[in-house]
Amino acid sequence: MAKIFVARSLPGDAIGRLRDAGHTVVVHPGKLPPTREEMLDGVADAEGLLSLLTDRVDGELLDSAPQLRAVANFAVGCDNIDLAAAAERGIPVGVAAHVLTDATADLTMALLLAAARNLPEGERDAREGRWETWEPEGWLGRELRGAKLLIVGRGRIGQAVAARAEPFGMQISFASRGDDLHAALAQADIVSLHCPLNEQTRHLIDASALEAMKPTALLINTTRGGVVDQEALIAALHAGTIGSAALDVTDPEPPPADDPIYDAPHCLIVPHIGSATATTRAAMANCAADNLLAALAGEAMPTPAPPPPSA
Ligand code: GLV
Repeated sequence: MAKIFVARSLPGDAIGRLRDAGHTVVVHPGKLPPTREEMLDGVADAEGLLSLLTDRVDGELLDSAPQLRAVANFAVGCDNIDLAAAAERGIPVGVAAHVLTDATADLTMALLLAAARNLPEGERDAREGRWETWEPEGWLGRELRGAKLLIVGRGRIGQAVAARAEPFGMQISFASRGDDLHAALAQADIVSLHCPLNEQTRHLIDASALEAMKPTALLINTTRGGVVDQEALIAALHAGTIGSAALDVTDPEPPPADDPIYDAPHCLIVPHIGSATATTRAAMANCAADNLLAALAGEAMPTPAPPPPSA
């Protein structure tokens, strides 16, 4: 039976399932990610690794784990893992696919509605004494019926967002690889990002993409902070190049307390909570456990990571 290093305590019964299968499970304690040293130490004699999106799994880490036979990421994204390095070493990588589609699409709609109807500003004003009367011209938001929603990325989450936005009467279009992104951005009232972060999509939304957008546009990011050039976004929000942003993800994550993103106008920020429902997080843990149990038994992982770019 194998030793499995789990990089954080997880909800649900997944860790119990790994133990019931006879494995020795070592869980990194506490709320914060293991330091690099703690990670290297944790995997040194491990055959399985259950990593989080905050844990860098690269060639150096894999080399320091000579017995490692499986990596399961507690995330649908896997940009924290060097997939090529894992493939070179014959180590299968799994992701928590499928199970967080609904929760992430729900959060996207929550951000969309909150930003479109100025909820953060309204909430602050109500609490801080600026709600003096019912104002015919106060807190005016954006009508959703007829608004043009551009979804960047045609994957499961993007499609789940489309299914939710459709009953609001929004006009939905998709942009994916090979499409003229800037032309699509120019038409959109709301842009929601749902592509994975990789070498092709890093800073996909850069200064020129922001420039192409309407000055009233709302940009929603629930994928990875690195898909947006955050410095360019901050500049665009200050300059009024776009109207507003709603971010579940930032770059870096979390931003330090003095990060200029916090001073950008019309920018709603939440702490990477796309998948944060009790049901979804337990399902993600089970998905990671299923991947580990399969790989450690010499079987194919049920939900493997996509192949590395060069494969
Ligand atoms: C969350 O961001 C995930 O990739 O699961």
